[in-house]
Amino acid sequence: MGIRMDTIEIPAGESSKMIHTALAIVERLIALEADRKSALIALGGGVVGDITGFVASIYMRSIPYIQMPTSLLAMVDSSIGGKTGIDIQEGKNLLGTFYQPKGVYIDIDFLKTLPEREFRTGIAEIIKYGVIDDPELFHSMEKEAAELLNGSFGSPEFPDYPEYLERLVSRSGRIKKGIVEIDETERGLRRILNFGHTFGHAIEAESQYSISHGEAVSIGIVAATLLSEKMKYLSAEDRSRIAALIGAMGLPDRIPDGITTEGILSRMKRDKKKENDAIHFVLIKKIGTPFISSGVPEEIVRETIEEMK
Ligand SMILES: NC(=O)c1ccc[n+]([C@@H]2O[C@H](COP(=O)([O-])OP(=O)(O)OC[C@H]3O[C@@H](n4cnc5c(N)ncnc54)[C@H](O)[C@@H]3O)[C@@H](O)[C@H]2O)c1
Repeated sequence: MGIRMDTIEIPAGESSKMIHTALAIVERLIALEADRKSALIALGGGVVGDITGFVASIYMRSIPYIQMPTSLLAMVDSSIGGKTGIDIQEGKNLLGTFYQPKGVYIDIDFLKTLPEREFRTGIAEIIKYGVIDDPELFHSMEKEAAELLNGSFGSPEFPDYPEYLERLVSRSGRIKKGIVEIDETERGLRRILNFGHTFGHAIEAESQYSISHGEAVSIGIVAATLLSEKMKYLSAEDRSRIAALIGAMGLPDRIPDGITTEGILSRMKRDKKKENDAIHFVLIKKIGTPFISSGVPEEIVRETIEEMK
């Protein structure tokens, strides 16, 4: 069709999600004579997706972009919903826009080369969807934990593995899409997608990003679940099912050594989700029933963090 295509590469990793990378992309776009008829394709994990969307939203007062996620986390979460952003010294995602991609194209074949650790971090987000929205999805993961953990493309032991994975990715994406369509700019409902993230972001930052976003979310899910039980909303049975699934998937469920309770607390207070001096938590009443609470006493948060060590 005579469409010209150029490639811009950025180094892998969160440290690329910075203003200097965004500027370098812009400079390359200018050198390539990209104009308002040009479009960007974000081919990569969440880092590539977030920074590509950010640049697309501001380059020449915005140009279209498409998401083509290659990590599991990006497929089920970051490529959908139009949150773009970069990190600054003071914190993650503090510069960003809401800017929807023209389309999201997902091909699970990309996952064939995804490292195991990255794969698991995507699984943590899928567990999150089960917990906040879909008890059946959660139950299917409990049943198929072995397949998810030990299966691979073409494995004779689990011939249905690719189909099952595709169903999980597709179900997760639809859950996120449904929530974002109701509340695009996170005024209310969309906040439930932050389940596990209030603790998770603080732990991730306090570890100096030595643990990944998904791993931090996994620890955060266990913490938010424990907090829900301590606040007497959630039964001990549901809490242990969630902790068991996180454990069965080989995901971290404890706050690593060296991270202090005070450090986590002060990060949470500075978190951008904090409003009117109250920290907002997404809690659950049972699997599939989340709600937002700003009324959790600091003492109970502190106790939860201590127990998570
Ligand atoms: N915009 C949103 O709504 C949203 C939601 C969740 C997370 N995020 C952001 O997403 C980022 C995390 O995304 P991520 O977990 O994809 O991390 P990432 O983009 O850093 O990718 C993880 C690693 O996997 C590699 N990789 C990606 N696809 C691969 C493949 N198919 N084969 C081999 N290697 C591959 C990458 O090069 C990288 O080294 C964070 O910056 C987080 O803030 C954004």
